[in-house]
Amino acid sequence: MTIRLIYKSRATFPPFSVTDVDIMREADSHNSENDITGFLVRLDWMYIQVLEGEREAVNTLIQGIIKDPRHYAYQMIQLVEIEQRMFGDWSMGYMDMSGKKLAFSSMLQGLSDTSPAEDMGHVLNHIAHAAQMQSGQP
Ligand SMILES: Cc1cc2nc3c(=O)[nH]c(=O)nc-3n(C[C@H](O)[C@H](O)[C@H](O)COP(=O)(O)O)c2cc1C
Repeated sequence: MTIRLIYKSRATFPPFSVTDVDIMREADSHNSENDITGFLVRLDWMYIQVLEGEREAVNTLIQGIIKDPRHYAYQMIQLVEIEQRMFGDWSMGYMDMSGKKLAFSSMLQGLSDTSPAEDMGHVLNHIAHAAQMQSGQP
């Protein structure tokens, strides 16, 4: 069964620090080996991450991520079974949107597991859009 897990958390290190580069390096090799795909967004002191993969693989990974001292205040937003991956091309994409005045940042701040499905869809679409921009696709 393939699942998608979305969570957000608070970063321990400021935006644009080398910590995120380290995280991405670890994520890239581990995720490729475990057929996990997704995207990590950094927005000031917040992380929001989408993880897609086989349930077992995602479960194992998230247990480790939750304990990682580079962030805290883990909050699950969504855990759903999926037919198709949205970030299949990315072992782990990354974008630092810190300091940007984003139309949807207040929605992101308020996002939780009780948010309406519409808000979650909206946020996912924004992230997917950012991913497309990064890969240079129209
Ligand atoms: C916000 C955040 C996102 C992370 N995302 C991933 C990820 O997608 N894949 C991954 O392997 N590690 C990720 N990590 C790092 C893991 O927590 C962990 O350090 C890494 O998997 C190495 O674990 P190990 O030392 O037990 O092998 C992330 C860490 C943070 C703080």
